[in-house]
Amino acid sequence: MEYGRVLERAAGAARQVSGTGRVAAYIPALAGADPAAFGIALATATDPASVHGADDWRTPFSIQSISKVFTLALVLATDGDTLWQRVGKEPSGSPFNSLAQLEREGGVPRNPFVNAGALVVTDRLQTLTGDASGALREFLRAESGNPAIDFDARVAVSEHRHGHRNAALAHLLADHGKLANPVRTVLRHYVKQCAITMTCRDLALAACLLARHGIRADGTRLLTRSEAKRINAVMLVGGTYDAAGDVAHRVGLPAKSGVSGGILAVVPGRCGLCVWGPALDTHGNSVAGIAALDAFTTLTGWSVF
Ligand code: DON
Repeated sequence: MEYGRVLERAAGAARQVSGTGRVAAYIPALAGADPAAFGIALATATDPASVHGADDWRTPFSIQSISKVFTLALVLATDGDTLWQRVGKEPSGSPFNSLAQLEREGGVPRNPFVNAGALVVTDRLQTLTGDASGALREFLRAESGNPAIDFDARVAVSEHRHGHRNAALAHLLADHGKLANPVRTVLRHYVKQCAITMTCRDLALAACLLARHGIRADGTRLLTRSEAKRINAVMLVGGTYDAAGDVAHRVGLPAKSGVSGGILAVVPGRCGLCVWGPALDTHGNSVAGIAALDAFTTLTGWSVF
């Protein structure tokens, strides 16, 4: 496979939709992103991984909800299937920050990728490590081989100031007896994990954890094969908000998007992918990113279907 040529063509598909979509503004520090920026990277799952990219693939951006994939991996590695008693594995069919759904369902979030689910996972990671966001940062540095990965304090402060809905979700979870740590602590680590800054290159390498069925970059096993399968499965049904059906239809890969316009995708057994374009569609997924992943799987035939 000539990765460079395939990625150039996927980037071409992204350029064709340039000018479509809107940059997320509810976290003010994200609102200034260039809507025309675009990057794509692919890291092979073989040992040693090789990484390829096009356009802005080395530009750092705020990973936001993509962090939820890796906090889930870290907790699942310790807790195994007991985690699924605290958080579901169904598509949400509701906005990712819905209070109504959480209340209706007795404080058990639909899946680990809606905000309430991620708060429960972060709470558990905090109990397990004593420093949930720090443990995540160390893990991402190791998986991507980039020791410079860090938090963007400006993004974290901005989200703290405007994060009323997440605060409400955390309090609702606490009211249902679902958090072991203080609400303040859980929110602080959740916001910090979302404010980690990485590039498409870094994230494609980190995604290889799932492409290698749970094997870390250093060759050790973090997840069993079935735990890695479970994360991929939940990404497929719940990783791209209420558009998971459309993304499965067009792209056919497990994927997790974030409001800053990144999308991490996995081709099990083959490679990790990351695309980034800050302009989002009405569901909250990167317009350019979905166009590029669509072109990628069409060109390569690499989908899970
Ligand atoms: O909590 C928030 O609203 C953001 N820090 C992350 C949201 C996001 O990227 C998509 N959520 N599933």
